[in-house]
Amino acid sequence: MKLISVAGARPNFMKIAPLADAIIAHNATSSPFIEHILVHTGQHYDRQMSDLFFKELGIPEPDINLGVGGGSHAVQTAEIMKGIEPVLLEHRPDYLLVVGDVNSTIACALVAVKLGIRVIHVEAGLRSGDRGMPEEINRVLTDAISDILFTTESGATENLLREGVSADKIHFTGNVMIDTLLAHRARAEQSDILQRLGVVGEYGVVTLHRPSNVDDPGQLAMLVAALNEVSVDLPLLFPVHPRTRSRLEEHSIRIAERIRLVEPLGYLDFLKLQSSARLVMTDSGGIQEETTVLGVPCLTLRDSTERPVTVTHGTNRLVPLVRESIVAAARRTLSQEPIKGRMPELWDGGAAERIVAILVNYAGKGP
Ligand code: UD1
Repeated sequence: MKLISVAGARPNFMKIAPLADAIIAHNATSSPFIEHILVHTGQHYDRQMSDLFFKELGIPEPDINLGVGGGSHAVQTAEIMKGIEPVLLEHRPDYLLVVGDVNSTIACALVAVKLGIRVIHVEAGLRSGDRGMPEEINRVLTDAISDILFTTESGATENLLREGVSADKIHFTGNVMIDTLLAHRARAEQSDILQRLGVVGEYGVVTLHRPSNVDDPGQLAMLVAALNEVSVDLPLLFPVHPRTRSRLEEHSIRIAERIRLVEPLGYLDFLKLQSSARLVMTDSGGIQEETTVLGVPCLTLRDSTERPVTVTHGTNRLVPLVRESIVAAARRTLSQEPIKGRMPELWDGGAAERIVAILVNYAGKGP
């Protein structure tokens, strides 16, 4: 059985890591042998956004790097498609496995399906309902052309069924990103990031990078004004995504002294930063899930979430994108005992193993 998997952008790396490990573990003990070829599209290319994650998570060196970084959505997607096609033609895998919802995900899935290669989507079925988000378009399109769909929460399975995906293609296997968190949590606790940043006492963590939040200067200024106010009550650490850094500089947005901007952090340092935080404020998808598992209060600065289980079971709350609402939500969170969330079903560290077991079952069965 020959499988090509694709990693492109930062949130992909922690999803590919446990899958690569589970394939190695399977090959060590059982048959059929899974020949696994890992392709990095190069969508994220900085040391801090990419290489560090491979190193820290022990992900095997990519067999192939397409070297496509930056560009508009159209350019990036098109370049990844042009890059992956010869790879698929040369290797003719039985399956192409993609994770998440980034441009690399849809670009590679689209090329594969047209070459008659079966597509596996890990983290399928998540829906924010907001078609203004590029990731939502990527999710809907990737799921529509996938042959095997692995979901992280039962709501995602329901979304797929509602969209007409046949039940026998869908498998609820849990969350591979949480496999990675649980596997590395103890190591992350050893990180000296708090000392390195000179953090003393309580602090909050901020991340922002959604185009809808950071590309509109008015929206970004409003968010930063809200964070400036929150920082009066709680000092904030803000690892800044390259997209956000360039927008902050471009529009000369004033940031309060108690907000500390730092470079994007590696996986272990960021996990430590989250786990010791009093509060996390973010527009990331993955961080909503990680804070739920860590039991840290999370305020999601978005109108919708594609990960509703983090709200129904976890510590995540959506906050209306209005300055006063953000400040009030943060103050409320700080004045309360942290909410005790429940662990979503199958977020137990065994998702990648379950996925590989199911794939092995498919092997030899044909489409
Ligand atoms: C992408 C994903 C998003 C994910 C995010 C995590 C899509 C549509 N979006 O958004 O879902 O949450 O990654 O970070 O795929 N850049 C660097 N160095 C890098 C990577 C990017 O400087 O290593 C710069 C790029 O040149 C570009 C900007 O950051 O100017 C944005 O990168 P891009 O890959 O277009 O999308 P993200 O905003 O990172």
